[in-house]
Amino acid sequence: MTMDRAVRAWLTETFGGDVRFDEPMSRHTSFRVGGPAEALVRPREKDDLVRLVCWAAEQGTACMPLGAGSNILVSDNGIQGIVIVLDNCLTSIIENDPTAAVANITAGAGATLAGLCAYALKNGLEGLNFALGIPGTVGGSIRVNAGANDGSMADVVASISVLLPQGTIRNLEKSELDFCYRKLDWPKDLALEDDNDPIILEAALCLERGDKRDLKKQAEQIMRQRKNQQPWTDASAGCIFKNPDGERSAGKLIDMAGLKGKRIGDAQVSPRHANFIINRGQATADDVLALMDLVRSTVFRRYQIQLETEVKIVG
Ligand code: EPU
Repeated sequence: MTMDRAVRAWLTETFGGDVRFDEPMSRHTSFRVGGPAEALVRPREKDDLVRLVCWAAEQGTACMPLGAGSNILVSDNGIQGIVIVLDNCLTSIIENDPTAAVANITAGAGATLAGLCAYALKNGLEGLNFALGIPGTVGGSIRVNAGANDGSMADVVASISVLLPQGTIRNLEKSELDFCYRKLDWPKDLALEDDNDPIILEAALCLERGDKRDLKKQAEQIMRQRKNQQPWTDASAGCIFKNPDGERSAGKLIDMAGLKGKRIGDAQVSPRHANFIINRGQATADDVLALMDLVRSTVFRRYQIQLETEVKIVG
């Protein structure tokens, strides 16, 4: 690892116990896989985050925001630069005007999607039930346009504010955001010069007012279905491949190719839902990548369909 001593010294001085060095990413990902991040910082205030990002840009040090770590596969070599985890700040969820006909919610990027769904259910707000059971943060789920049950974050986001690598904060309206299946493309005029992504700080969401009891009933049904069909308690990163054309089920294709239960090391194609790779204990990123290659080549040989990776591969 190459992070220089001056960089480490500044991080320690500025963030004290909120920075860790050579931190195994297996502790911060739902896959429980991944080598060390050179530094992992959990800022307590938005201002600290802005300071960190500006400073890192000046130093030429890469920064990567991490949500709940539920949609990424970190390589066994780990991550160079700084991983920023937003679970110490930007976690609030507030309704701006509870008397308005349509609810306008401001949610911090670090708030969990589960917390947001629970808030909506408690307050009888409709539009977020699709996200029940998706393990992620508000920021992460918007970044990848997370979705399920025919819904996705694009359906509820009205605008977001983002922190640019130079330290400026910009508000982006939905009309400026190019959402598609499991993807958000930034507006071209953000003119991002390096690999550092903008960091989502918060989002304004529009939700309809609905009937609490109906919403709860629907929520129970969605959770029941998810628990029945998906490997709910196993370590994974959710669906590993995108559905081809966003329509045909990758899980069904992998299943039909006879790959359920296939294992390389401790990485296994879930016997419950074939589009999940699960970590049976000590899987390495290399095990997972080798299994993904095997799945991709087998499906291609059988069906001439090229599966595209859904999880973000880092490092
Ligand atoms: N199927 C199989 N075998 C399997 C898995 C699925 O035959 O191993 C069949 C099912 O029986 C069903 C069809 O394939 O007839 C579709 O399956 P499912 O309803 O599970 O949906 P999916 O297309 O496999 C998508 C999303 C999931 C989301 C579910 C439910 C993608 C890549 N996957 O899965 O999202 O939870 O719909 O809405 O878009 C994720 O993105 O991480 C994710 C898990």
